[in-house]
Parts: sequence; C-alpha cells; structure tokens
Amino acid sequence: MELVNSVTSGMRPYPMEELARIKAGLSKAGKPIFDFGTGDPKIPTWDPIRDALLKAVPQISQYPSVRGTDALRESQWGYLGRRFGIHRSADIGIIPAQGTKEAIFNIGLCLVGREGKRHLVYPDPGYPVYRASALYAGGIPYPVRVTRETNFRLEPWKLPAEIQKSTAAIWINHPHNPTGATASYEYWQQIIDWCHKTNTILLSDDCYVDIYDAELDSGVNNDPRKDRMPLTPLQQSSDRVLTFMSLSKRSGLTGYRSGMIAGDARIINSILQARANFGVGSPDFIQAAATVAWDDEHHVQERRKIFTHRLKLAAPYLEKLGLLESRPEAAFYLWCQIPKSFQGDDVKFILALAEHGIITSPSSWLSEGLKGYFRLAMVPDDKSTVEAMEILSKFVAQNS
Ligand SMILES: Cc1ncc(COP(=O)(O)O)c(C=O)c1O
Repeated sequence: MELVNSVTSGMRPYPMEELARIKAGLSKAGKPIFDFGTGDPKIPTWDPIRDALLKAVPQISQYPSVRGTDALRESQWGYLGRRFGIHRSADIGIIPAQGTKEAIFNIGLCLVGREGKRHLVYPDPGYPVYRASALYAGGIPYPVRVTRETNFRLEPWKLPAEIQKSTAAIWINHPHNPTGATASYEYWQQIIDWCHKTNTILLSDDCYVDIYDAELDSGVNNDPRKDRMPLTPLQQSSDRVLTFMSLSKRSGLTGYRSGMIAGDARIINSILQARANFGVGSPDFIQAAATVAWDDEHHVQERRKIFTHRLKLAAPYLEKLGLLESRPEAAFYLWCQIPKSFQGDDVKFILALAEHGIITSPSSWLSEGLKGYFRLAMVPDDKSTVEAMEILSKFVAQNS
C-alpha cells in the first residue's frame, strides 16, 4: 500500500543517525563539540532588528498579504539601489519570501511545464532543495557537476541540445555553496544570453551575495576592488531573470524566515497569484524586522568581519595539511579534500572526525555522487575554531 507518493518515499534522508549518535555520545561524556556542519552561525541579532520585531507584534493578529508591506518594499528597493545600482522600474517586481528555501522549493511549481519544458538544471555539488523542487513539481532534475576547471561555474551551453531545449529554468548560485566561488560580469552575461537564446528562466540563488571579504569594506590599501564584490545578474537584465535574496546569512536571521524574490515583473505578478495559494505570506512583524535589516549595512559589515577572521584562522591549518586547494572568494565555507588515507570515503572520514568532536558535512550529502570532499561552515567562534583546527591537524597526522 502506498501511503505517500513515490517522490516522498524516495526522498533520501541525510544519513545523519550515525552522526547524531556520535554527538549524543560526546555530550554524555562531557566532551566538547565543534559544529561546523550547518551554515547557521550563532551570532546575536542586531538589536534594532529585534526591537522592530517586538514593537510590531500586534494585539490582534491578521493574515499577512503575500505581496508584503510598502515599507518593506521601500527598504528592499533602497538595498538593491545601494548595493547593486538596481533602481525602481516597472520591469522589476519584488515579493517577500518566508526565507528563500520555501521560495526556491515553490518556484518549481510555477515554472515546470512552461512551454512544455520539464527540466530544472542546477549545479552539483549544491543546495539540495533545487532537486526536491523539480521532483515535487513533476519536473526532471538535471544536476550538472561543477568543477575547479571552470571555477565551479555551470556552463549550460555545453549540455546536450535536447536538454538545452527542454530546460524550463536554470539555477545558478554564486557565491556558491559549498565552494564559495563567485561569478564575473562576463559570466553572468553569457548565462543571460544563453537564457534568452533558449528561452530559459534564470533563477539566481543570491543567498550569500553579501558575505564576502571584509577588507572590501575597509578599502585596505586604497584598493576599491569593487568588482570583487559578488554580483547579481539582475544588474544586467531583468528579462526572464529572478533573484532569490535572503536575510539568513546577510543579517543572521535564519530563525525569522525572511527573504525576497526580485526580478522580471511579468513573472513576479504571476507567481504572486500562485503564492496566495501556498500560504507563504510573511508575518507582518517579521516584515517590520526585515525592513530594518535591509535598510542597514553596518551590521552586515560587522558580520563580514567575523566570518573573514574565522576563515583566516582556519585556512592555514587546512592548507598546511594539503586539504585546502584554494581559499573561498566569498560565503563562509571551506571546501576541502579529505586526506588520501581515507581513499575517497568522505562519510567514513567525517564520522571518524566527529568522534573527536568536529562536525562537518561530507560531499556525498551535498551532491549526487561526488565523493572525497568535506565542507566546514564557519559557525564556531574564534577560540573554538582554533581549538578544532589543532584537533583536526592531530587527527589527520595520526591517520595518514
Ligand atoms: C545556497 C543556499 N540557498 C538558499 C538557502 C536557504 O536560505 P534561507 O531559506 O534561510 O533564506 C541556503 C541555506 O543554507 C543555501 O545554502
């Protein structure tokens, strides 16, 4: 008897039980745990954001609108103008999201099948929700392995002609989770041109667009290097382009569930109607907090300093061990090779390392088939990062 459909029964749960068992054992033994697993840093929320939320909690609760408040849209336009030079235009629409995860998942329902096209193309390794979105929408997931040779950039023009023709939408994610690779203006132009030529919707997952080297803020050595700040393709075209931007990494509001979809007004207006059915209106008090968060850059600069510092603390250890080929251009992850002695078995490696209190993610959990790598999210504080790197160095030395 099938109680759920085959997409649901076929969902591969992360094989986390083993990791959970190890963590529970460490806790019971009173041993420290250094959790570099999930990209959810524990940094206190900037006070004005919390204050705005608390002040906006109403006496009488009412349904929020999916369109969002005018005040929120104002501050989002302000942000897009300040950060990317994208100015208010009738060609571009903006709607709030309950975090970008739901928006990434739900957009598949709106796009799969357009013009008879059913493929959703996305980078691998990458964020697992692209695949789930395609499957639940009755589409066909099409992961494309991205490698160091192209700086982890997906090149859809190299795909088989029939796939290029049948792609309803393509996910591009720069800064890229897990590698931190960024994209250039020229690359974005190539992608936009390809999307226009093949009539494909460009979905840009810009979740990490504000997490970059803090030195770019201070203008160290008087070097503006503005072009090293991550870009969004919406700067270059809005025609069949949507960007998904989040307050989770920019402002550390993972628990608030707040982001936005911005782009081609024709698509935004259509998905607004669809989203009214999805039940994804962002609560008004969250929107009030989000308005403050999009309006301010200072707290984001402070967060960049924290992540840049942590990356600088950890990277030399991994380089010395020969596990880190290159430092990330942006985001807050270190994408490393596992030691040769583990013969490509990344799950075995991360479980053995977890026994020493260091939790990381193996490439097998971020990919459909890529083995031999692991990801560290810069979640633990400075002191814990250094302590963990010392333990990791000893562990690798003992196991090589
Ligand atoms: C690449 C990428 N996209 C989107 C998300 C979703 O973020 P949120 O739903 O918190 O906005 C994440 C979360 O880690 C991510 O890594």
